[in-house]
Amino acid sequence: MHIKTATFQISAPDLRSCPVAVAPEIAVIGRSNVGKSSLLNMLAGQKALARVSPKPGHTRLINFFSINGAWTLVDLPGYGYAKTSHAERAQFQQMIAEYLSGRTVLASVLVLIDARHTPQLIDLEFVQWLTEGSVPMVLVFTKADMLKESQVRAHIELFEEKIAQWCPEPLRIFTTSSKTKAGRVELLAYIQETLAE
Ligand code: GTP
Ligand code: MG
Repeated sequence: MHIKTATFQISAPDLRSCPVAVAPEIAVIGRSNVGKSSLLNMLAGQKALARVSPKPGHTRLINFFSINGAWTLVDLPGYGYAKTSHAERAQFQQMIAEYLSGRTVLASVLVLIDARHTPQLIDLEFVQWLTEGSVPMVLVFTKADMLKESQVRAHIELFEEKIAQWCPEPLRIFTTSSKTKAGRVELLAYIQETLAE
């Protein structure tokens, strides 16, 4: 898929405030600091479309970006950021859950997982929650440039083993780096395929 235009549309604090659902949406989700905004910029081919921050907990609203005037990339706030207050975290969780279970035009969720780590409980629980809700998703391992290919593979295999316990079918997996643009072509091809369905 060729990206001709990518423009910021709107930020929404909750499902009710989301723009009128016309175009299909691909949402990017994952724990805080995993590289959601960076991946979105990498896919869109723009350096600063979504704001990237070295400090976790940066994206706090649901951000909509219109791509080619035909579909929408959605940047969601990260889950599991320990330094936000309990009340704020609960509010984030509700915002994310409402969007993921209630957005009619949601075509697929890209669940981002930091390739540097062995499976983290918070990611496993999130994937399980999506599976139970029958939300269409793929797994996207990020920051692959930061470790050896063999280590990335080992972490992916461990994750697959864990989710096989309750996942009825194996999930599609992508390995990416926003720094080297690895995985961009493959992920865009997946998005194109999904939007055509
Ligand atoms: P929140 O909005 O806070 O939840 O974070 P986020 O998931 O949107 O992460 P963001 O894209 O802001 O990136 C967090 C940090 O990781 C930044 O310092 C990025 O430069 C860095 N980063 C993201 N992706 C990559 C990658 O593929 N490779 C490397 N080396 N660094 C990355
Ligand atoms: Mg972000």
